Parts: sequence; C-alpha cells; structure tokens
Amino acid sequence: MQKATQEIRDRVEKLRRDIEYHNYRYYVLDSPVISDSEFDGMFRELQELEDRYPEMQSQNSPTQRIGKEPSESFRHRSHTLPMSSLDNAFDLTEWESYVQRIRKMLPGEEIEFWVDPKLDGLAVEAIFENGVFQTAITRGDGYTGEDVTANMRTVRNMPLQLFETDFLPAYLEVRGEVVIYEEHFEELNRLQREQDRKPFANPRNAAAGSLRQLDPKITAQRPLRYIIYGIGSVSGGETEDIWTTQAEIIRGLEKLGLSVNPDSRLCRNAKEVEEYYQKLVEKRREFPYEIDGVVSKVNSLEQQNRLGSTARAPRWALAIKFESMQVETVLQDIQVQVGRIGTMTPVAKLEPVSVGGVTISRATLHNEDEIRSKDLKIGDRVIVQRAGDVIPEVVRPLPEKRDGREREFYFPENCPVCGSKVSRLQGEAAYRCLNLSCPAILLQSLIHFVSKTGLDIDGIGHKWIETWVEKGMVQSPADLFKLQKEDLLPLERMGPKQADNMLNALEEAKNRATLDKFISALGIRLIGEETSKLLAKHYRDMDELSRASKEGLQQIEDIGPEIAESIQSFFQNPRNRELLEDFKQVGLWPISEHVQKEVESDLPLKEKKFIFTGRLQNLTRSRAKERVEQAGGHVVSAVSKNVDYVVIGEDPGSKYNKARELGVEIIDEEQFLELLS
Ligand code: IVH
Repeated sequence: MQKATQEIRDRVEKLRRDIEYHNYRYYVLDSPVISDSEFDGMFRELQELEDRYPEMQSQNSPTQRIGKEPSESFRHRSHTLPMSSLDNAFDLTEWESYVQRIRKMLPGEEIEFWVDPKLDGLAVEAIFENGVFQTAITRGDGYTGEDVTANMRTVRNMPLQLFETDFLPAYLEVRGEVVIYEEHFEELNRLQREQDRKPFANPRNAAAGSLRQLDPKITAQRPLRYIIYGIGSVSGGETEDIWTTQAEIIRGLEKLGLSVNPDSRLCRNAKEVEEYYQKLVEKRREFPYEIDGVVSKVNSLEQQNRLGSTARAPRWALAIKFESMQVETVLQDIQVQVGRIGTMTPVAKLEPVSVGGVTISRATLHNEDEIRSKDLKIGDRVIVQRAGDVIPEVVRPLPEKRDGREREFYFPENCPVCGSKVSRLQGEAAYRCLNLSCPAILLQSLIHFVSKTGLDIDGIGHKWIETWVEKGMVQSPADLFKLQKEDLLPLERMGPKQADNMLNALEEAKNRATLDKFISALGIRLIGEETSKLLAKHYRDMDELSRASKEGLQQIEDIGPEIAESIQSFFQNPRNRELLEDFKQVGLWPISEHVQKEVESDLPLKEKKFIFTGRLQNLTRSRAKERVEQAGGHVVSAVSKNVDYVVIGEDPGSKYNKARELGVEIIDEEQFLELLS
C-alpha cells in the first residue's frame, strides 16, 4: 500500500477545510460562493485520496456525512448537566405574571430578555472537544439520552470542526433543535408517497423519525438541520467568564460556525418581548419551519444564576406558546355543498373552535372516499388543524371517544338544493348534480363569473347575487347585464347610489371584457384562465370557437382530447347556446385581440352596435338584424353609451328616450339603409 506524502496530507487537509467551508456557506449562511459542480469536484477528489490512502481516513471528514454502517441500537449516555424542560405561558397574561414573579426576585433591576422562536423538532446536545465534533446525545428524559453521533455527522449544517476564534473552549456542549424545513418536508413526503411509504404526519415526526434511524445512510438522505439555542457544560481554553449574557453565547456560537436562529433578538424589557411575540404570531406561517411559541430567556447570566431553577425548569426561561394549530372538536354534521359545475362537496360542520387564533366551524372533506378512508362518523370527536395555508382540515377522528351514538355518513341521492338525482361520473371521486338550472349551480357560476378568474367585476357582493338568484331576477350570467335600476331599487338595503355603482361596474366590465376573460368566466369544465388565453389566441370569438372540431382544437399546444371534448359538449348543450345568444343580445361579445388585428376587413359596419326600437317600414326586425350582421355589426338590446346607433321606427319605445339621455346617435330607417350601402 502506498503511503501518503506530506504533500498529499496537506492536500487532504486543505480539501477538507475548503469543503467544510463551502458546506458552511451553503447550509449555514445560505450564501454559497462556488457552484455545485465545483463543490462536487472537490468532494470527489477527497474521496479518491481517502480511498487510495486509507491511513488518511477520518470520521470527521466531510466524506463521512453520507453515513456510516447501521448499528443494532443506540447507546445511552448521560448529559453532564441535565437538559431541563421549559415552563410554559399560554398567553400574554401568563407571561405578565411570570415577569412580576421574577421582578420580585430581582427587585429594582433592569431585566433584558433574549428571545428565540420556539422550534418544534427534537432537542439534541452536541459535544466538541478542542473544536472537533465528538458526540451527540438526544434530550431523552433530560438526564440520559441516546447517542446519535453517527447520525448527527450526516446533518449538513452540523460543523464537524469548529472555526478557530478567540472564543473556542476546550470542552463545549451546545444544545439545539433538529428540524426539517417546511419545503423539505413536503418534498420528503412526496418521495415517501412515490416509494409507497407512509408520509409523515408533520415535520416534527419526520425529524424525530429521521434522526432515530439505526442506519445513518438513511438519515443522511433526510433534510435535517441543527439550530443551536444554548449551551450545556463549557470548560477550558480562555473562555471561562468570557460569556456574560445569552446574547454573547449565541453570537459566540455563531462565530464558531454553528447555525443559530436568525430571528432571535435581544429585548430591552418585557414589553418588547410582547411585541416580538405578537409579531411572530402574525408571521408564524411565513417561517420556513414550524414554530410553536417564543422562548424568552433572561439575558444576563449573572441574573440567570440568581434566579436559579425549580425541580422542573429554570426560572430564567419561559416558553410563551402560540395557540395550537391542531385542536379537538366535534364533527356535528356533514353537509353537502353544490359547486359551480354541480360538483357536490361534503363539508364538515364543526363545533366552533379557535385554531391558532382563528375560529373555525367548517372544513372541506373533499369527497366521499376521503370520509371513508379517514373513518369519520357524524358526532365524532375529531382533530382539526390549520396547516400551512389557512384552509382548515379534519385530520382524524378520535374513535376511542365514541359512545355509540355516532352515525355513518351516506351521500345524499338527491341534490340538497334542487332535489334532482345526483350521479357519480365514471372515474371521478365526486358526485354531481347534473341539473343545469339548479339554483346552487347557478349561484356558484355567477360568483365565478364576476370573480377575478372571470370578468373581475368589482363591487358585486355574493350576498347580492344570492338575493337576485333567490328572487329569480337573474337566471343566467347574461341576465346580470339586463338588470335595470328599477329592478334593484326595491331590494332591501339597496340605495340609489349603490344601484348606480353596480350598474356602472357591470357596464364597465362588459366594455373591457376580453375574449380570454370571457371564456374563463363561463366556467367550462377543465377550462381555466390559461387554457382560455390559448383559445383566445386561436379563435376570433365564441362563434368561431363553437365551430372548431375536436381535431382542430387539439392542434393547439397543451390542448388534449379531454379539453377538446369538454369544449364540444359545452357548445352541444342547447342551454349554453341560448346563453351565448343572450350575451350577444346584451352586447357582451368580445372579439379576440389577436385575431382582431389580423382580420382587418372592410365591412362597412364592423364592430358597430345597433339597437332597433319601433316598427320599420321596409324590413322586418330579423331581416334588419341579418343585414347588420352581414355588414360586420351586432344588434344588441340594452341601450348604453357603448351602442353606436339607435335605429328608430314608428312608435319608438323607452329606448329612444334612454338613447337621447345618453347622447347615442339616433338614426331613422332611411339613414340605416344608407349606412348599409
Ligand atoms: S431553551 C433551559 N430555546 O423546547 C432552557 N428550547 O420545552 C432549555 N426548544 O427541550 C431550552 N426551541 O427542545 C430552548 N429556542 C429554544 C427552543 C427550545 C425549542 C425546545 C427544546 C426543549 C423544549 C422545552
């Protein structure tokens, strides 16, 4: 076997130092200075040298981060100083009484506090001797824990060798929390599912499960991070008595290369702690990892000493907990909601509870299969949670709390709103109400129509839409544009000003509607905003789209057979054709911006809007309409500023007056015929 020369030894040392430095830049500082491939190159070179010269191998080499051989079990080890737990305050009132208690013990003194977010992971103590990582022990019962050294070596931000600073103690125990970041957690669960393994319930479980793996190679593949919040026993070197505050400890550990929490702060008084707590309550969901409160520590170590500890926990520290994101409540009922395209969604009606500061009383259950697989029964006590987003979710029932009065949920055979039979389409988890005039479907499609995904009509609240549907004033989205001030005024709580605003908003939306927005607003199955944009690029208007063949549609990139099928069946439905005709009538008929420019035609009445009122002499109404359309114009029924010409015949109706009020150009039959020629 070849022996390593001094040159090789130096090279190995340099590679290790460099790799650890770049590891630190990447995992601790989150600011790498070299590319991944440069890093990989150095790593491979080191691996090759260690393979060639086995005498050079060391367990503190960065190559060992990939994990050593599995062990039979974890050895138990004692902590030099117990890892005590923390007392809790469950709200700011409890925090205030805590402050009063410690003020009594430190009369007249100013008290500063060091505050950290309380991480929800697994507490671990790591021991460094002369800067070299030696041992890691889980908290265990506080006195003894499990030796997880081999696993901790694989944690990417765990320094195997501390930096040399003026503050390096000969013997150093650091304490911190092993966590998995939210984004890594989701990725991990995706992998678990892909490999047909059970996903983890939450990042804490995933972190604990990963660290307590007997095979360090598995731990090495898990995205664990170690965040330091304090120290245990420290001795030797020149460091004794150098750290006099919690803040100095944390800054010192940070300089040694350990990851500390970037959101920790020094608070000059109790009030600042409260402000910090409030801020974190608000920002809680924005954190990259789960936090379940704030840990406040008296900053001065000297004051800490005088405060001392109880049997359970130090008096100088307190966890101020957030409201839990998971709470227990009663599943009072399961109701069925009918969505825009008739999809029926079971919704849990819950006994109202506060979860993380928000009262929840409903949660979606997605579909029947979900209710079965979660084994939920009406009347169950259940755990509900608000996860990453704000949408509450029923996590699981507590079957041990059942008393026999719980009922199985059966999907209703009839739509709860209109009473028609529901059906479960092939290959779909959802049941649907297929009655197109079901008021529930109508309501949802109207809400969609005015929403941001649709025409984005401001100032028309859901409550109003509900009223209009209830009273039968609006039976389709096109009816919205037929509403008149006289229709609105009799409604309770509707003033003239509000009525005007609504009508203006509708008018304005009609004028600025683009074809893609219009398609999207119709809520055709599978056609969202993106597909609508694609369609609007290829077709001039809804008429042209309605004539498109399935093959033609599929020529467009990203449009597959399912979407093509859905578009066709939309146009095949006579009710939808009627609806489109109605839109044309009220003057909502956008032309594609893209196609518009290309088809610069010289039709005399291109895009002109006409209204007829009164009897014509030479033409029937339908003939007049035909002529207008042949010349590229449209006939609409509601007078607005947007109309180009009002053609009056004998005995004109109210539209004539309205047109005069609005200053729309008024012409007689003769002038109309002139326009056509
Ligand atoms: S200090 C004497 N700081 O909470 C002080 N603990 O409930 C002991 N924890 O076992 C702990 N984040 O696992 C401290 N910033 C933080 C913390 C923290 C999470 C955990 C730790 C401890 C448990 C006590």
